[in-house]
This record gives sequence, structure tokens and C-alpha cells, in this order.
Amino acid sequence: MAYQSPKGTRDFFPPDLAALQHVEAAWRNASINAGFDEIEGPTFEHLNLYTVKSGDGIVNELFSFKRAGGDIDYALRPEFTPTLARMAAAKGRSLTLPTKWFGIPSHFRAERPQRGRLREFKQWNVDLLGVDNPSADAEVIATAIRALANLGLTHDDVIVRISHRDVVVSMLEKSGISTDKMQIALTLLDKREKMAPDVFAGKIKEHGFDLASFTQFDGETVVDHEELNSLQEELIAWGISEWCKFDFNIVRGLAYYTGIVFEIHESSGNERAIAGGGRYDKLIEMFGGPSMPAVGFGMGDVVLSLVLRDKGLLGDGSEFLPRPDVFVISAGGDADKQLAPTVATLRQAGLHARMTYRATRNVGKLLTEAAKTNTRFTVILGEELEQGNVVIKDMDSGDQSEIALCDIISHIKK
Ligand code: HAM
Repeated sequence: MAYQSPKGTRDFFPPDLAALQHVEAAWRNASINAGFDEIEGPTFEHLNLYTVKSGDGIVNELFSFKRAGGDIDYALRPEFTPTLARMAAAKGRSLTLPTKWFGIPSHFRAERPQRGRLREFKQWNVDLLGVDNPSADAEVIATAIRALANLGLTHDDVIVRISHRDVVVSMLEKSGISTDKMQIALTLLDKREKMAPDVFAGKIKEHGFDLASFTQFDGETVVDHEELNSLQEELIAWGISEWCKFDFNIVRGLAYYTGIVFEIHESSGNERAIAGGGRYDKLIEMFGGPSMPAVGFGMGDVVLSLVLRDKGLLGDGSEFLPRPDVFVISAGGDADKQLAPTVATLRQAGLHARMTYRATRNVGKLLTEAAKTNTRFTVILGEELEQGNVVIKDMDSGDQSEIALCDIISHIKK
């Protein structure tokens, strides 16, 4: 039996990797344009980094392990925020604030694989530390939108749904939910959209809640909240208010968020969240660092790629494979000896040069092979070499001409 890849993982063949790199390039460009510096951390951490502050949702999805023969517990990272908080805490007061970091790490979650959910995925993280007012929240959201816009999405395609933990908690309290049941209620609200209505109704009953406590967030909710009012002004200032709406169905599953939270969704609401984030003003302190406000988000590649494909903004990835500048073939005889030196010279000049490895000297077949690589030019080494010339074919126009061997580079670069 053939070996199979583990469930929920992906093999990236060249077009698949090219598609991922296209998305990553949009993420990286948007981050750098907005003044964020790239960081990376270990792919596994001590288990307690996650059990301390991420919340049950993530803890139940850990891949945890011990070293063979060892007794220390580790876990593959399910998210980046604990690592980032640990790194910030380690720098302590020497960190110049504000600090703006981004990263594109892989993550591992032992979830049930399904549409938009895998066990290994990439996630763009953008985090701004040391600014405690909503201008920072608006700036990180604007950075997310910049990347989505660069990938071709518009505010008709996606929506940033913004909420505030305090507003949601106080609305739930007003509807009669007690403090001791608040965390259960928040978790249920967070999961509601992902559950079938009858399953949700069952859970509500099980905990003695009222359905109305949860449906109160549907439709337009007008709140007068100082932080949200000032965020609204900032969203206008950053020119992104059209992409955003307040929506108090959003609470976020992770336990460390302290205030403003948000998720980015495909507009029809059919897919899982493209991104999620918010403010976590206490986390760095909790990992032993100085008190430091922080806001950020994570955007996964899986849902985003589904959305881009649905909208015709991403193909199978072959459209992003690098196009060869030149493909060199030989019509046989002495010309064969010139294949390697010619290709070597072209590569030395910085051109993307490929050659045939086939034994046939049937030029028609070799041209077909060249065309399959999508090369811009094909160079045919043949009898003309005796005069120091080669035949060069422009694969887009079909034009073919005889030029001096020493002119190939300038001809292609022109
Ligand atoms: P999260 O909501 O757990 O937040 O994940 C953010 C995004 O990562 C999701 O919206 C989704 O696109 C992607 N994602 C999560 N799990 C999976 C999965 N199993 N398969 C595919 N994609 C997935 C966080 O992780 C926070 N640490 C984000 C953050 C950064 N908050 C502040 N800074």
C-alpha cells in the first residue's frame, strides 16, 4: 500500500506552492508597507504556554508530545500569539514601543478536517504593541484590508465584523445571564454560526439560557460606547469604513482578548472566518513582561484561498509559476556539445534558462517540449553554429530569426 500524507495536511506541488506564495507575497507586502517587521519563532513550544492563556478551544486541539525518553511536555504551535507575547515579555522594557511585528508561520491544530479547516495551515500574524487607543486597532485592520485589496477583493466580497467583549458581556448580563455562566454563554455565541440551529437550541436549553439572549445581536445594534465611537472615527480616517461593520455576534473563542475583537468574513457568510483578531492588553504581562497594550490578528491561507478561487482571483497556481526566459534545444551533431556551455552562459547572465534532456533531435518535438514550459524564447543550436549563429524563436509571436550566438543575451533582454 502506498504511503499517505497525514489527514488534514497538504502536499504542495509546484503550482500549489506558487499559489501559496502569491498569497504570502500580498501579506508580506502589505505588512512591510505598513511598517511591520518580520519575526519567526519555534514551531513547538512548552505545552504550558498554551494551557495557561489560550482557552479551552485551542487546548483541546493541541498536538502535544514528549521527546523520546524525555518527560517535558511540548506542543506544536496552534497559533502565534502566545509565542509573540513570550518574545515581547523576554525583551521586557528594552523593547522600543510601539513595536510592529508580522509573521507568516505554520500552525498545527488537531481539528476535524473540513472545508476551510485543516490540521496544518499558514497564518499571517500582524500585531502592534504599545499603543492603547483604537487608532492601532484601525491600523492593523487597514493592513489586513490592504492585503485583501491587493489580492483583488473588494468591500463587496468581504466584511470586517467588529465587536467589543465588554459590550457583548453587558448585553448578555442585561438579558439575565449570570456572571458564573458568562464564559459558557460567550463560547456558545462564538460557536452559534458554525452550529445547526437545532443543535444550538439544544445547547441553550441544556444550560438554561434564553434564545432571545443570543438573537438580540442579529440585525442592526446601535451602541454608544466610547472606544467603539473612537474606532469608528479611526476607520473613517484610514479610509476603510466601507469594509467594516459593528456586529456583536462576534466574541472570538480565544480567552486572552480584552476589548475590541473582529473577524473578517466572506460577505455571503458561507465560509468560516478568513481572519480573526483583537486587543489583548494583559497577555504580555501575564507571560512575565511589562504591562503592554497589544492588538493584532491572524489570517489563514486556507479560507482565503477558497474565497479567492470562488471569485476567480486565483487559478490552480500554474499562472504564478516562473516563466523561463529561454529554452535551449539542439538539432543534433556537433551542436549537442554546445548545449551545456550555452545554457551555462545564459544562466550566468541572470536569465532563467532551461534545456532539453531528450535524446531525440526532432526539432518539431523539441519545440513542443519547449512550448510546454511556457518559455518566452527557444534557441535552436544547429548547423548555423559553423558561422557562429543560432536560430531563436519568439514563442509568443512565433517569429523566428538567425542571430549571432554572442547576441542571444541582448536579444532576450531587449
Ligand atoms: P484564530 O481565530 O484562532 O485566531 O485564527 C485566525 C485565522 O486562522 C482563522 O480566521 C482562520 O482563517 C485561520 N485558521 C484557524 N484555524 C485554522 C485551521 N484549523 N485550518 C485553517 N485555517 C485556520 C488566532 O489564531 C489568533 N492568535 C490571532 C491573533 C493574532 N490575535 C491577535 N494576534
